[in-house]
Amino acid sequence: MITIKTPDEIQKMRQAGQLVASILGMLEKKVAPGVSTGELNARAEEDCRKHGAIPVFKNYPHPYRGRPFPGAICASVNEEVVHGIPGEKKLREGDIISIDFGVILNGYAGDSALTIAVGEADPRVLKLIKVTEESLMKGIEQAHAGKRLGAISHAIQSYAESHGYSVVRDFVGHGIGKEMHEDPPVPNYGSSNRGPVLKTGMTLAIEPMLNMGSDHIIVEADQWTVKTRDGKPSAHFEHTIVIGATGPEILTLR
Ligand code: MF3
Ligand code: CO
Repeated sequence: MITIKTPDEIQKMRQAGQLVASILGMLEKKVAPGVSTGELNARAEEDCRKHGAIPVFKNYPHPYRGRPFPGAICASVNEEVVHGIPGEKKLREGDIISIDFGVILNGYAGDSALTIAVGEADPRVLKLIKVTEESLMKGIEQAHAGKRLGAISHAIQSYAESHGYSVVRDFVGHGIGKEMHEDPPVPNYGSSNRGPVLKTGMTLAIEPMLNMGSDHIIVEADQWTVKTRDGKPSAHFEHTIVIGATGPEILTLR
């Protein structure tokens, strides 16, 4: 069931979104060669709890039979697409890292992700990152009441593919509210005349994952880390948005 949020609920989601944005902004500045993904994770969890919020990824149940997610952030490096487990791995010059983070604050969720390069990286990888962020913005631009959800999906896919990248299909964005994952699923592909009609007060987490090579993915033995089957790089951006009376508002804007 897709829920329409009241102005009071949207205000709470704005606060959750702004906390996520500020923690992601802080993490972005810490990314450097030699820093481990576990250190980023520890800082995120500490800052989150300091603000009285719950890091919602931590202990999040596995979709099938696996163990709950062990981190507060997902840290996905290079060919890792999403759901990388933070740990000892140290970042190296030229890596790219997707940092995904979500909280529950005063009963409402915020969820956002960004991808950045560690030091200087291959210009082709920087282009992938740029186009992935732009594809998210193209999708958000479509989030107007009266349009169908497919308009978002289609805008992301056509922008990504026009630049020669593939769109991951096995993972999608989602509705968000009291729960991090609510209806509807928000695919990053498909035709614009599909899906529910968007309404003022709907809140969505839109999160394109673009691959330099094929869209095929595999899940590692750790049960969580998703990576490209061909080993080529992947980038990921996510924002939580609300469909306002006059258009989309990004709740996790940094
Ligand atoms: N932004 C991701 C999502 O919407 C992160 C979830 S990681 C998990 O699925 F561990 F919490 F599942
Ligand atoms: Co999400």
